[in-house]
Amino acid sequence: MNHKLVLRGDRPLKGKITAQGAKNAALPVMASALLMKNGTLDLSRVPDLHDIQTMSDLLRNLGADVRFAEGKMSIATPEELDWATPPALVRKMRASSLVLGPLLARCHRAVLPLPGGCAIGSRPIDLHLKGLTKMGAEIRLEHGSVHAEANRLKGTRIYLDFPSVGATENLLMAAVLAEGETVIENAAREPEISNLADTLIRMGGQIEGDGTGTIRVKGVEELHGTEIRIIPDRIEASTYILAGVITGGDVTVNGMEPEHLEALLAKLEEAGIRLSIKDDSVRTLPGGTLSAVSLKTLPYPGFPTDLQPQIMAALCLARGTSVIQERVFESRFLHVSELKRMGCQIELQGDTAIITGVEHLTGAEVRATDLRAGAALVLAGLAANGYTCIYQMGHIQRGYENMVEKLKCLGGDAEIVACDENEGPKF
Ligand code: UD1
Repeated sequence: MNHKLVLRGDRPLKGKITAQGAKNAALPVMASALLMKNGTLDLSRVPDLHDIQTMSDLLRNLGADVRFAEGKMSIATPEELDWATPPALVRKMRASSLVLGPLLARCHRAVLPLPGGCAIGSRPIDLHLKGLTKMGAEIRLEHGSVHAEANRLKGTRIYLDFPSVGATENLLMAAVLAEGETVIENAAREPEISNLADTLIRMGGQIEGDGTGTIRVKGVEELHGTEIRIIPDRIEASTYILAGVITGGDVTVNGMEPEHLEALLAKLEEAGIRLSIKDDSVRTLPGGTLSAVSLKTLPYPGFPTDLQPQIMAALCLARGTSVIQERVFESRFLHVSELKRMGCQIELQGDTAIITGVEHLTGAEVRATDLRAGAALVLAGLAANGYTCIYQMGHIQRGYENMVEKLKCLGGDAEIVACDENEGPKF
């Protein structure tokens, strides 16, 4: 049975919600548990999401004992792990590739089918593989799977051609158990990398420079169990801030880290939105008028690609013409055709979208083609006149915990309705 999300829009949202733990921090931290022999990693503020279940199942398949209840997760690893990952799980989620570095470091071999995930460009893992090869791994691609082998990995200097988040995480995890020092140059600087580095340091790893472009890791012989709190989800928090903005409402997101969202908050202020920013909360104040702004997505601390679809939805109702350039992924505009069904005026030219603001959006039947595209449709649906029906809701549930409850808590009219496997938009 599939599900669709039905929204009735055109009402200002008002109220307070608390940010969930960051999916993109929890996934690598979970994978890092594989680096321990007979240890237990205890995590708190873990969001209850499909992707988290997929990673839990993957770790269980490799031999770990994973328990999860009410945001607390405990991962216990045995003496011996399996090193061949199950294709069905790996193909569900691109972040499955994060087990490659830990398996290679800990078991000296790994088999990983090339991963799946959101339909946003080709998304190769060549930078992960190049880095691991530089550390001494032998890597072959056979029948659609990566086969990797290594004795103890060796510390080295690795320059990433692009500051890939996943490659930085995989190499960081591989390096903590390598022989000697690894230096990762042009490393990703996302807050999720620092959450992982903090975890590894608490486990006994020696890491300096996370959060900068150069990370230095001194390899150690083994790691031990520890506990860590997952950072708040900056993309989820931002999506609800944008829900306040697009409905002209008064939304407060608590339990978040505003300094992780500076690119968004600065853009909103430039666009004429009034915000109240405190140490751990952001409130959208009604009364501002959203004006057009231009932006390009970039690695952190630049404007996040994971917020590009959502801010585009908001800018569809701004006064004037906005320009968004997508610089991280090659084809991340699948939401555009769906937004157009709701009355948005968007023209695509290569990696650039030109958005002409309109007065009103109208509810329509649309399809969530990927996680953040789905979030953009939710935002448009909250602002649109009448009903919006979003099919393939499962994509949204990969990244947003209790979305309907949170929207209702803000006064939104939202409901998940079961539908037939083959049911979809009628157009
Ligand atoms: C992570 C996030 C994802 C976010 C992305 C960029 C997780 C679980 N997911 O994904 O939500 O959109 O960062 O902020 O944290 N690339 C290569 N070769 C590689 C690796 C990446 O060419 O080996 C390219 C990708 O195709 C893409 C760009 O680099 O164009 C960024 O990818 P990357 O930073 O690796 O994203 P992910 O770690 O997959």
